[in-house]
Amino acid sequence: MSSPIQRIVIGGIWALALAVSLATAVAAAAPYVNPIRGRQLFKTKGCVSCHKVYGVPGRGTAGPNLSHVGKELTAAEIARQIKNPKAKNPHTRMPAATDLKPSELRALSVWLASLK
Ligand code: HEC
Repeated sequence: MSSPIQRIVIGGIWALALAVSLATAVAAAAPYVNPIRGRQLFKTKGCVSCHKVYGVPGRGTAGPNLSHVGKELTAAEIARQIKNPKAKNPHTRMPAATDLKPSELRALSVWLASLK
């Protein structure tokens, strides 16, 4: 039997391993991503209705301006936010983008991460 402390440590190690593998998966799977595709998805997947990015038509203000989001977040962190916004903030108004294909999620998050 494991003690509560051991279980917390093991849980932490699993969470870390998951985060690292997710980060490497995004980084490794993205040697080249067409930035036009990410920008396009940002418009077609409804992100513009809440978020502003300079140079992209749309004036969403419900969410933060993402024109420099790449200064704050990596592509992996952005991908996590898109897939599961409630992980960071359980009360967020941002909906999880469940209809994105893996390649679309990658294109979108790599493009956003490039906005410095
Ligand atoms: C209904 C409004 C809404 C929609 C639609 C929406 N978001 Fe958000 N988003 C938010 C809000 C509000 C936040 C602020 C964080 C929070 O609430 O926890 C946020 C946060 C984020 C962040 C983190 C910003 C930071 O600085 O931490 C990213 C990245 C992001 N959204 C990307 C997207 C993308 C990409 C899409 C489209 C697939 C999208 N959002 C769709 C409302 C929205």
